[in-house]
Amino acid sequence: MERIHDGQLQEDDVDELSLRPVKLSQYIGQSKVKENMHVFIQAAKRRSEAMDHVLLYGPPGLGKTTLANIIANELEVNIKHTSGPALERGGDLAAILSSLEPGDVLFIDEIHRLTKPIEEILYSAMEDFCLDIILGKDAAARSMRIDLPPFTLIGATTRVGDLSAPLRDRFGVHSRLEYYTIADLEQIVLRTSDVFKMEIDQQAASELACRSRGTPRIANRLFRRIRDFAQVLDNADIIELSMTKKALKRLDIDEFGLDAIDHKILRGMAERFGGGPVGLESLAASIAEEAQTLEDVYEPFLLQEGFIQRTPRGRVLTDKAYKHLKIDYQNGVLGE
Ligand code: ADE
Repeated sequence: MERIHDGQLQEDDVDELSLRPVKLSQYIGQSKVKENMHVFIQAAKRRSEAMDHVLLYGPPGLGKTTLANIIANELEVNIKHTSGPALERGGDLAAILSSLEPGDVLFIDEIHRLTKPIEEILYSAMEDFCLDIILGKDAAARSMRIDLPPFTLIGATTRVGDLSAPLRDRFGVHSRLEYYTIADLEQIVLRTSDVFKMEIDQQAASELACRSRGTPRIANRLFRRIRDFAQVLDNADIIELSMTKKALKRLDIDEFGLDAIDHKILRGMAERFGGGPVGLESLAASIAEEAQTLEDVYEPFLLQEGFIQRTPRGRVLTDKAYKHLKIDYQNGVLGE
């Protein structure tokens, strides 16, 4: 695997890499996506062709990058990683594209953040495997065409709605990753415990799975923090239910997996906007969070779990949220 734009790796990132499955058969959950992907990979291999371009979308932390690496590994080709914001100039993209070998995978994370000129270079690269480059300026400008090897573009995004239709339509495979079930997360937690050689008992694994917002990245992060508490506070070599609960309490994660920011959102809606409807921007400003983070990271889970609803006039708080926050709401009066 080659990284085009490398950042400093943190300790947790290194752990994260070793936690990632490398084969489709090791990838837990997302069964529909997985089964279809297996067929598309095998079909491409049988025909000795590059696999069709793949668009992976869904909330953050569900394994889009992991899946892209698995696809390349199963296809037995190289993968190069870059991201929408990292591709500033046409030359950046041209350099990566012309370094690909036949059948290779190019992974572009946050593909919704490509600039328009880069997107336009991608169109002919994806469709005809060629690069149209303009050399020189004004009257001296000439266009040059460079042939590329057939390759597979895998684009990942949390905001599929922000992709232009022409770009979206050039992907032959569209796969939406869903939040994981508790049973799948439990398996992921047990696998993590194996990788880290730190045992976790069944009840603790189940509790952690319930509180991980359907998201493996969160389950794995919480696992590491609970391991810290277990080792330092109890000198323990196994994670048990009581320590799991204690650690999650100290991390401000409630029984539904909601954290301090989720609480700030829900409370903000109740206390400042009478439960809504409220627009995203007003809500974000009132609790000093970024609207985009709210929309991409927090809202999808709160919606899925039924704590908020989206209406044409804005977001509204549900009865479930009021009950969870232990706030009575009667005739516009809040009482605790
Ligand atoms: N680690 C993170 N996501 C995973 C998944 N879907 N399957 C197995 N391990 C994972």
